[in-house]
Amino acid sequence: MPLARPVVLGNWKMNGLKADALALVGRLAARAAHPSGTLGVFPPATLVGPVAQRLSASRILVGGQDCHEAESGAFTGSISAAMLADVGAKAVIVGHSERRHGLGEDDALVKAKAEAALAQGLLVVLCIGETEGEYLAGERDAVLTRQLDGSLPDGGTAENLVVAYEPVWAIGTGRTPSQEEIKETHTLLRALLVERVAGGADVALLYGGSVKAENAADIMAMADVDGALVGGASLDADSFWSIYTAGGGA
Ligand code: 13P
Repeated sequence: MPLARPVVLGNWKMNGLKADALALVGRLAARAAHPSGTLGVFPPATLVGPVAQRLSASRILVGGQDCHEAESGAFTGSISAAMLADVGAKAVIVGHSERRHGLGEDDALVKAKAEAALAQGLLVVLCIGETEGEYLAGERDAVLTRQLDGSLPDGGTAENLVVAYEPVWAIGTGRTPSQEEIKETHTLLRALLVERVAGGADVALLYGGSVKAENAADIMAMADVDGALVGGASLDADSFWSIYTAGGGA
């Protein structure tokens, strides 16, 4: 079955110490232990296990923010998909722009990570997005097509794959594309997914980049926007919950 809509996922990035993290997810679970849509949190690696344990009686999804492409080995500091699954993760983000641009990850590596995650039964949240320079140069669609083509895992389906469009220039900036621009990109990405992925019409397609309680309803009301990947606003249970309900979740 495709994921229940809306799909609202919180990427905590490198934020959160144990006590605050457990309190945050405790507040979310108190709102809806069995959400009508798909609600997920992606804590830093140190907290995936404790958060998964805290949410074990709920259907709120817990995932990692990255994984290594190998199952194990001499890769100091890295974490494999098997390790995430072992502590209760059900999903993992791959290809976030902070790793593509900050750490030099290319499409081939992102694809290998996504396939490693699928092999462990994890839901893959594949991120793509153009930089501000690419946006201003009119290269958005070419960049998105190239990233999707290069990093889509073999074996992706509507059950195990989510694609998140995150314009790099909208992340953490308070700026978002116009409604028309989001519509254009999501229409393009939907068409590409239909061509390239089994069941691509049902793969959840998320928007990410400065999603807040105030703009969430307008963004998620658009066709082919199935939910949101939320950074900063996911660190507060009330604002994250408001975004989820703005997308129709209960
Ligand atoms: P912000 O919501 O803080 O802009 O971050 C978006 C993001 O990068 C989610 O992965």
